[in-house]
Amino acid sequence: MQRIGISFSGDTVMRRIIGWILAALGGLLFTLALVAAMYVFWLSGSSHEPTGVRPASAYVSPGGPILVFGGNRGTGLEIVRGLRARGEQVTVAVRPTSDTRALREIGVATVLADAFDPGQIQAAFAAQRYAAVVSTLGGGPADKARRPDLEGNRNAIEGARAAGVRRFVLISVIGAGDSRATAPAPSRRFLETVMDLKSQAEDHLRASDLDHTIIRPGGLGDVKATGTAVLADDPRAFSYISRTDLADLAVQALGDPTTIGKTYNAYDPSRRTMWKMFND
Ligand SMILES: NC(=O)c1ccc[n+]([C@@H]2O[C@H](COP(=O)([O-])OP(=O)(O)OC[C@H]3O[C@@H](n4cnc5c(N)ncnc54)[C@H](OP(=O)(O)O)[C@@H]3O)[C@@H](O)[C@H]2O)c1
Repeated sequence: MQRIGISFSGDTVMRRIIGWILAALGGLLFTLALVAAMYVFWLSGSSHEPTGVRPASAYVSPGGPILVFGGNRGTGLEIVRGLRARGEQVTVAVRPTSDTRALREIGVATVLADAFDPGQIQAAFAAQRYAAVVSTLGGGPADKARRPDLEGNRNAIEGARAAGVRRFVLISVIGAGDSRATAPAPSRRFLETVMDLKSQAEDHLRASDLDHTIIRPGGLGDVKATGTAVLADDPRAFSYISRTDLADLAVQALGDPTTIGKTYNAYDPSRRTMWKMFND
């Protein structure tokens, strides 16, 4: 009887073993990437039901011009639009490099005040008697070396105090202060510096004698507004949110004296996960 056998040379065996290892590694990497993508898109939100939701209220004007830091783009620009829609007189503090085209298009005044320059801020406050300040100051990846999240906000807060402006609304971030554990793990890992700086800016504002309101959003998107977002006096509340909805919440807070002294998490029940944010 003829024996059927398979014989491998040492070389072939090595090549096969390496092939199996590479295939196993590839499979493992693929599974990890899949789990990471699923986490980010579907599971990164929180199932916690917020408490302390701010009840809706009629808008009360601060009764004078409003100075907005960060108002030339993003959430700040939406806040400017919202304030103007309520008949407010708005000025935006900009730096020489700021793109102000959107503001020019809607006829909003600007004043030169780089948030890193206390002298310019002082001059901006001296130019007009403001009734309130809103700050959305934040930095992008390009500002890594020097971010305005603490330094810029601290200068704006001190500028307001020195000028006798009482009302201050600050946009912070979920992950600052007592909301650190609420932020999804990847955000805590990659936005740790921002969260630390914003925590310190929040503390600086709380320690001031200003009539402050702090609003912490989760992930922001230039996506359509849902109109379902609320402010929750609850550091465990988490969701994603459109910049337009966040801006609307900031304007509502400014116009609601019961928000003074409070720190809120912005929460949109329609956008609990990142998937919900980008899949409208
Ligand atoms: N992106 C998110 O997912 C996210 C999540 C949570 C919280 N937040 C926070 O929410 C806020 C709004 O975010 P956003 O993404 O809508 O806006 P943004 O892109 O962070 O806009 C930042 C604004 O700050 C201004 N700014 C920065 N440095 C300045 C300086 N030295 N002097 C004067 N102005 C300065 C910028 O002006 P220029 O145009 O001149 O740069 C811009 O108008 C920020 O505070 C951000 O940290 C963001």
